[in-house]
Amino acid sequence: AQQIPSLKDTFKKDFGIGTALNNAQIDERDPQMTAFIARQFNMATPENIMKSALIHPGWDTYDFTMGDKLIDFGRKHNIKINGHTLIWHSQLPPFIRGIKSQDSIRTFFADHIKTVAGHYSGKVYSWDVVNEALNEDGTMRKSVFLQYLGEDFVTEAFRLAQQASPKTELYYNDYNNEQPKKRAGCIELVKKIKAAGVRIDGVGIQGHWHVGKIPLQDIEESIIQYAALGVKVMFTELDIEVLPRNFQGADVGQRMVANEQSNPYPTALPDSVQQQLAADYEALFKLFLKHKDKVTRVTFWGVNDANSWLNNWPIRGRTSYPLLFDRNNQPKPAFEKVIALKK
Ligand code: G3I
Repeated sequence: AQQIPSLKDTFKKDFGIGTALNNAQIDERDPQMTAFIARQFNMATPENIMKSALIHPGWDTYDFTMGDKLIDFGRKHNIKINGHTLIWHSQLPPFIRGIKSQDSIRTFFADHIKTVAGHYSGKVYSWDVVNEALNEDGTMRKSVFLQYLGEDFVTEAFRLAQQASPKTELYYNDYNNEQPKKRAGCIELVKKIKAAGVRIDGVGIQGHWHVGKIPLQDIEESIIQYAALGVKVMFTELDIEVLPRNFQGADVGQRMVANEQSNPYPTALPDSVQQQLAADYEALFKLFLKHKDKVTRVTFWGVNDANSWLNNWPIRGRTSYPLLFDRNNQPKPAFEKVIALKK
């Protein structure tokens, strides 16, 4: 059988190609999966293992076991690691809920950044320093950080990260920040950070989109506007949901479970949707290539359809098909279209 073309090699001169990785993939239990990852990707972002709840489980306790494994995995397979994420309102350690004073939040905030960014200094290539700090209208999202530290927490996070890890690239990451209002808020954040004399190297547009509804014009406008600020632009969590937006689950006891309505394609994606997915990925990559002087990385949120978070959100046990490779790491029509752009 002919070998499947390599994404990272195909786009070598254009931008990096990344994937989200999780525990199961980095312990190398499955040598075929490891080889597949190493062949397709040259960048990776930990899907969960560097988030604060996991890496900072107690006030004075850090657990770097899995993160360190990821660093080794990256070194071994020539994959650059993007740390994800230092400051995020979600997946915080449970002890945070008991903290009600500004001083303690400030201490947590500073210790967390110093310790985690310090530990991985020289080991990660980059950090998503702050993740999802904005509302859809471009204002600052409510969070424990905004509440106790005020809007400047974003700039402060970059300042501390820069001190702890001076050679690491530092990014702001969000979803829907290609949409005009959120984009405007994001541009303000970047300007504020720079005005304070603090370094920010890039903006990440997560790219969780929906089939047939890719906002191509907003994406292009965003690439241009962010790049004009003098920062790199990245697509950091790319996937395209193929299931209807307003699916419903069945309420079984206290738990919502997937039913047929929520899971219209339980065994296979219909050809028409498969083709639309392929056309969407093709259009996106065409745009990324057009702006390859500004776009430095495209990271998929999962290696293949089996690993996608969209199988479990918002209802557990759905079957979604949002990526370029199917559940057996076989290329989908979308993969062929993307590769064909470079032929
Ligand atoms: O590990 C536990 C397991 O022990 C437990 O039995 C199981 C049942 O609840 O949960 C497992 O933890 C889950 C974890 O993923 C690992 O699978 C959490 O419940 C679940 O909430 C968590 O979801 C992650 C989500 O972030 C959390 O907010 C997704 O995997 C991850 O893909 C997603 O990633 C985010 C980015 O970080 C930021 N941008 C949006 C993106 C998608 O939501």
